[in-house]
Amino acid sequence: MAETILVASGKGGVGKSTVSVFLSEALSAENSRVLILELDCGLRNLDVSLGLTRDIVFDFGDIIRESCNIKDAVYQCHFRPNLSLIPAALKSFELCSDDIKNIIENLGEQFDYIVIDCPAGLGEAFDSAAKFADLALIVATPDPSSIRGARTTGAELLSRGVKNRRLVIERCPQKAKNLDPIKNLDEIIDGTELQLIGVIWEDPDVRIAMDSGTPLDVDSTNYKTFRDLSERIRGKYIPLGFK
Ligand SMILES: Nc1ncnc2c1ncn2[C@@H]1O[C@H](COP(=O)(O)OP(=O)(O)O)[C@@H](O)[C@H]1O
Ligand SMILES: [Mg+2]
Repeated sequence: MAETILVASGKGGVGKSTVSVFLSEALSAENSRVLILELDCGLRNLDVSLGLTRDIVFDFGDIIRESCNIKDAVYQCHFRPNLSLIPAALKSFELCSDDIKNIIENLGEQFDYIVIDCPAGLGEAFDSAAKFADLALIVATPDPSSIRGARTTGAELLSRGVKNRRLVIERCPQKAKNLDPIKNLDEIIDGTELQLIGVIWEDPDVRIAMDSGTPLDVDSTNYKTFRDLSERIRGKYIPLGFK
């Protein structure tokens, strides 16, 4: 049965979708079968990042309305056959926990991981998806409002029974002096009250890959950081490698 990984944050625009895509690519590159469920209704994006824009006919909204079979809205990534996407609905609408349960029950045996790319904040979609999270990755950037949002999100998940929560620091400047006003990564870890599982570096190539629907260059630093993150999720000990 698939392990469900929820990717959440308090603040928007911190890199949840980016983490969902490149973590899923890294997991699938190591032969895991991965499904991304995109929940950001009204803000569909991941079809672009996975090079699937021309393929999409049905989406999660069609599954919920029963205007297609579930399998009709599952799209396989062309450059990563182990990676599939259920795209978000183009228009925003309410969903409930039974809608997520339906996906997990029907597709859970066909995948090793279901990665749920959540909208920012603590709305209906977050609430519904939190019920099924085996692991929650809470994404924060090095800025005070994102750190506060991540702490609130972590606490909300814990109050919903999600004990397995980890922090991913996104868009981290490669030079420590550029963290200002944050002093160091410890301040982010302490501020979020979460255990760190990965640090993704700020790099324009990440945005370019997301926007052009291409994978990260295998020689890039972030290709390795996402691979390391995927290995840690599998339970392998990979040192964080910096202080
Ligand atoms: N490590 C990174 N380096 C540079 N740009 C990034 C990085 N991670 C995310 N971005 C950019 O930041 C913006 C927000 O990222 P996104 O993943 O869409 O956030 P969210 O899903 O949390 O709203 C996008 O333009 C994305 O390309
Ligand atoms: Mg997003």
